[in-house]
Amino acid sequence: MKECVVVDGVRSPNFRAHAEKGWARNLRIDEILTQVYEGLFAKNPKVKPEDVDALFCGSANQSGPQADIARLGWLAGGFPESVGTCSVGQQCPSGMAAVEFGARTIMCGEADIVIASGAEDMLVGRGGGGGGMDMAPRLAQRYNVMDFPMGMTAEKVGTMWNVSKKSAHLLSYHSNINAAAAVEAGKFKDEIIPIKGCVKDDGSSFVCDKDQWVRPNVSMEKMESMQPAFKEGGLVTAAGSSPLTSGACAVLLMSREKADALGYTYHIKYAGGSMAGCDPTVMGIGPLYAAQKLLKRKGLDAKDIGVWELNEAFGTQGVAVLRELGLGDEAPFKNVNVWGGALALGHPLGESGARIIITLNNIMKTDYKDAKYGLAMLCGGFGNANATLWQNVNK
Ligand SMILES: CC(C)(COP(=O)(O)OP(=O)(O)OC[C@H]1O[C@@H](n2cnc3c(N)ncnc32)[C@H](O)[C@@H]1OP(=O)(O)O)[C@@H](O)C(=O)NCCC(=O)NCCS
Repeated sequence: MKECVVVDGVRSPNFRAHAEKGWARNLRIDEILTQVYEGLFAKNPKVKPEDVDALFCGSANQSGPQADIARLGWLAGGFPESVGTCSVGQQCPSGMAAVEFGARTIMCGEADIVIASGAEDMLVGRGGGGGGMDMAPRLAQRYNVMDFPMGMTAEKVGTMWNVSKKSAHLLSYHSNINAAAAVEAGKFKDEIIPIKGCVKDDGSSFVCDKDQWVRPNVSMEKMESMQPAFKEGGLVTAAGSSPLTSGACAVLLMSREKADALGYTYHIKYAGGSMAGCDPTVMGIGPLYAAQKLLKRKGLDAKDIGVWELNEAFGTQGVAVLRELGLGDEAPFKNVNVWGGALALGHPLGESGARIIITLNNIMKTDYKDAKYGLAMLCGGFGNANATLWQNVNK
């Protein structure tokens, strides 16, 4: 088997998906994705678009501007027709699946240069909100489908795994504190591609190079005072939920030989991935099973992982997963989401699985240089979850 290394990873800022307040409200998601690809090639001039052997792009919603976004987004950006593309749909893990498919393609010897990307616009009416879905009636014989919406699953996980509203908010608090510190220290500078055509609240246009959601002045008191967002008397507030977000990202993967031949330096290689399923009405607990399966298959223990990225879809599920993995009882969980998580940064569904791998790579290259392993994991609608393991190439 060949080795697959991460040569680079870039992303757009995460934008609030809001018709009046979102800075990318005038941009289609395929346009944001195109700017991300352009940014990736500009940053890595040794790779020409025509040299790409395969391109994958994940999105949760596969309709509207996100219908076959891998092909149509690539072509709309003026990139070569000769590059084969594949859109990947696995709800929120779509972007992570895109990276896994890319890595496996390289390891099997079928490609040397792959772009694995993700893109999602959650603006309701433009892609967000699960529009166009038509569920099989027989599902209702098996499940209470009223429990399928993501917020309801977060309520159920919180109740079943005894996560209090306060514990969920504490995760959000530390997520925002970590993210704000990372922004302040310029940690995301290497991964964010400034996006042209953004609009401020007052309507003036600007080139955006920072995430829109992060709250440096986050307060537990404010969060605790917020009303439940999904269920009367429930645990989950807007502060305990990842917010509606739009964004795109792309990872440049190469076989180690190709990266060496082109003179690239790199820090991590793909060391394995795992998919797991669970009851769709508690989908947020899924990363626990995906991570456990992956660790077992690799003969590793949670203690062997130096740094973790867990996509915080909701505070309740994040706390439940991290507790069950034995990483602590309350936030701050050690070595987890050290530059913030989705509760602060946002979660553009099918994009996030690839985004957290980009951030994990940058964390392992800088603040956690000595870590041997990093693990990234996320849950997905209807009970899918993925986990990927990344190994320091020097260890
Ligand atoms: C929870 C949810 C319904 C709230 O949506 P919304 O009502 O549009 O609310 P917003 O996110 O705009 O937040 C409402 C207000 O609370 C504020 N708020 C959110 N989090 C906050 C925090 N931590 N501290 C202080 N204020 C906060 C927002 O800024 C906003 O106020 P503003 O408009 O004055 O800025 C929505 O974010 C949601 O559905 N999230 C889950 C998405 C999802 O399912 N993802 C998939 C996971 S698998």
